[in-house]
Amino acid sequence: MTENKGTYYITTPIYYPSAKLHIGHTYCTVMADAMARFKRLSGYDVRFLTGTDEHGQKIEKCADEAGVTPIEYVDAIVETILRLWEKMEISYDDFIRTTEDRHVKRVQDIFMKMYKKGDIYKGTYEGWYCTPCESFWTETQVEDGCCPDCGRPVKKMQEESYFFKLSSYADKLLELYDTHPEFLQPDSRRNEMKAFIEQGLEDLCISRSEFDWGIPVPIDEDHVIYVWLDALSNYITALGYPDEPELYEKYWPVNVHLVGKEIVRFHSIIWPAMLMSIEEPLPKQVLGHGWLLIDGGKMSKSKGNVVDPEILIDRYGIDSLKYFLLREYTFGQDGIYTNEVMLKRLNYDLANDLGNLLSRSVSMIEKYCGGVVPEAKLRDEIDEELISLATSVASKVEEKMDQFQFNLALEEIWTLVRRANKYIDEKMPWALAKDESKKDELDTVMRNLAEALRIVSILIIPYMHTTSDRMREQLGLADVEGVWEDAFEFYQMDGVKVSKGEQLFPRLDIEKELAALEEIGKAN
Ligand code: MSP
Repeated sequence: MTENKGTYYITTPIYYPSAKLHIGHTYCTVMADAMARFKRLSGYDVRFLTGTDEHGQKIEKCADEAGVTPIEYVDAIVETILRLWEKMEISYDDFIRTTEDRHVKRVQDIFMKMYKKGDIYKGTYEGWYCTPCESFWTETQVEDGCCPDCGRPVKKMQEESYFFKLSSYADKLLELYDTHPEFLQPDSRRNEMKAFIEQGLEDLCISRSEFDWGIPVPIDEDHVIYVWLDALSNYITALGYPDEPELYEKYWPVNVHLVGKEIVRFHSIIWPAMLMSIEEPLPKQVLGHGWLLIDGGKMSKSKGNVVDPEILIDRYGIDSLKYFLLREYTFGQDGIYTNEVMLKRLNYDLANDLGNLLSRSVSMIEKYCGGVVPEAKLRDEIDEELISLATSVASKVEEKMDQFQFNLALEEIWTLVRRANKYIDEKMPWALAKDESKKDELDTVMRNLAEALRIVSILIIPYMHTTSDRMREQLGLADVEGVWEDAFEFYQMDGVKVSKGEQLFPRLDIEKELAALEEIGKAN
């Protein structure tokens, strides 16, 4: 049995249901899902939260343009998001919508706590607002009349608003970064945030009165609560804070808020300050990931360069897409997406390396051993090397995963896959099979391959659970649960009956696929 290592709470940002999600959003959710699955597999009691951020002027505008009410508008898009996650078998434990009663009521409670603490006052807001980003900017931050984050024009605003005394938390935030450098990683992001605070933190305008689509300010029905205050609260309202605190007491503080780099600012300044105001524990860590770019720029509907994950899944399967996203990009850095890079990965790593290893090995066990994994009778240096590598990968994967280095965790696993393929080439079982006196050697090779494959089938569970199931089916392990501890052992396959199945990943004709994807892209 896997020991219980305690709780692990991980969140994705809650997505704006202003348009269908693209591969960039999928990237973040796939990372969170892999981490949640990895932690569950290695013995943690995991809570994985995702959801949608449904209020604000931008949504109201989209709905208006579509001629529907805001709730009708978001309902339709949330439907597509839920379908996407279902299709991708994303293993979230809860999906929170900020329009749900449970959230609305609790955000109002949080607002009142901050108000009673004396941290909220009424004043006049004057400044620049970027509607698409739902962000306020000061005169000095605005660049040539445009939002410093997205580059779109900002508009001058002056209105009576409620303010949160964010400025009075500046010193405490700086102290947090100094005493808990792990709170915000990587270091470069933390230094940026420090510089931002040191420039002088202004109080934050937290209410709006020029539109209605939001949570009403409990003490003033002419105002709705600023979306970021509403949105950030989801991480605790989903746990029942403050009125049904059972889950909250169990899982808070969160282990990791996984967020894109442009929203690190909200998570590492506004959010901890809000928590300090309501006197609740702070997140253990905020991790900022990079963006997936197309042609060196951002994906956007208006540029028509949005990559639709559903098209890729329908064509190549969920595990191919997940493997590619996790293997190709380095956490924290931006990466460029192209169909060609993706297709090559699928061919080289999945069809050639993993797919071939399984099909060659299972075929040989069937051909030379009647499909039953024999006992290993011998052990030479080459066997020794394979065994010691195979039984050491799991702890290397643990190390890389602790650093959110998904690409390196997968690289460790593929080192074993490639080593096992090389083992076949070195041992040449087809030659051993021709010589009766080499039977023990042949058996040893077959057994060792079966063990290596069994270990791979466990190691890949967090990233490619359907492939793991398909491998285990062929390895005769369909009814045996993949347990993390078993990835450290090399003695479990003797006598197991294997049976050859379909190729895990068909080899793709890259030119043909590129043309097909181009066509589908045009049609969309
Ligand atoms: N609603 C806010 C988040 C509130 S969290 C309390 C929001 N929503 S969003 O839909 O615009 O973005 C959600 C996440 O998707 C962000 O972390 C963002 O970085 C990520 N991505 C959007 N486009 C992306 C890429 N092209 N690449 C990688 N991640 C991207 O912000």
